[in-house]
Amino acid sequence: MEKRECGKSGIEISVLGIGCWSYGGGDYWGPQAQKDVDAVAQAALDSGINFFDTAEGYNSGRSEEALGIALKGRRHEVVIGTKFGMRRADPVVLREKCEASLRRLQTDYIDIYMVHWPIPEGPVEEVFSTLKALQSEGKIRSIGVSNFGVQQLSEALETGVRIDVNELCYNLLSRAIEVEILPLCLKNNIGILGYMPLMQGILTDRYRTVDEIPDVHSRFRHFRGDRPRAAHGEAGAEEEMLKTLDDIRKLAKAERIPLSRLALAWTIAKLGITCTLVGTRNISELQENVKAASLSLSPEIIQQLDDLTAPLLRQLGANADYFLGTRTR
Ligand SMILES: NC(=O)c1ccc[n+]([C@@H]2O[C@H](COP(=O)([O-])OP(=O)(O)OC[C@H]3O[C@@H](n4cnc5c(N)ncnc54)[C@H](OP(=O)(O)O)[C@@H]3O)[C@@H](O)[C@H]2O)c1
Repeated sequence: MEKRECGKSGIEISVLGIGCWSYGGGDYWGPQAQKDVDAVAQAALDSGINFFDTAEGYNSGRSEEALGIALKGRRHEVVIGTKFGMRRADPVVLREKCEASLRRLQTDYIDIYMVHWPIPEGPVEEVFSTLKALQSEGKIRSIGVSNFGVQQLSEALETGVRIDVNELCYNLLSRAIEVEILPLCLKNNIGILGYMPLMQGILTDRYRTVDEIPDVHSRFRHFRGDRPRAAHGEAGAEEEMLKTLDDIRKLAKAERIPLSRLALAWTIAKLGITCTLVGTRNISELQENVKAASLSLSPEIIQQLDDLTAPLLRQLGANADYFLGTRTR
């Protein structure tokens, strides 16, 4: 499988990565059997995928634990990305968090250590100088951020730190990063790890109406703000989203490509996207998703998809926080 360098880190990762949010099982994704995690990890490595994305916050640390178990004996083949979150910059707490992630992952280094969401209370200098210290101690190989907008990324870069990746939401229905953040990342040679490429199952051809979509997956800014799990308070763009989804579905059918594969291949093809992180819960999903990495879409198909999804992009705008709408600046 094709590999791309993360920023200037020298770390090469596969164009498709495994999103591990469901691992360990929890409220959001429901139960997740360890035997499926083990099977996906082994088969992913065998098929050329070397990047796994987790976070301390996924299922209260159980995602990191499940991944640590699944990768036992093959650590040297893998690039692990994990993330930490905090409300207020605190070097002591950050070091403790890093040690706890290392323990749960059963490893003595993290390849890419990311700030999960912008830290509301600074100073950011303290966070990045601690990360730099962890890097020089060999506990982490590379520093990344996630959900950082133009202002937040610029502030981080002003500290003089080398940031290799920004992990951001990116899929056919969620293209906000293209407006400002992606160009800034390209300019600064910061790789983008694109998350939610299937929009949590919505780009897999399983839903025809909004009401069929489970509450947990209809809380994004695409949906009305009064949906049960939504907390963004906006009007949403449900009609435009369903029309866009329908148009993409028709194109997929005409091209005889499964919708999910088309959606993944589109993000993989995009300039600036180092890796597309897909939540993969079992072997059959893995076997299907791997096919997207070798599907080369023609420039005409990519342009058609760009055109079909542009009105939704315009309606939802440049705000890349699709969850709450307030954290990414
Ligand atoms: N940095 C951040 O703030 C952030 C935020 C969100 C996600 N992420 C990362 O990005 C990863 C991916 O995002 P995500 O998991 O939220 O969403 P996603 O990848 O868009 O969707 C994952 C879901 O799609 C379904 N799926 C996967 N492959 C499929 C296939 N071939 N056919 C049919 N359905 C398929 C699965 O649903 P079932 O449950 O039905 O099997 C799976 O749980 C996460 O796991 C996480 O690592 C990061």
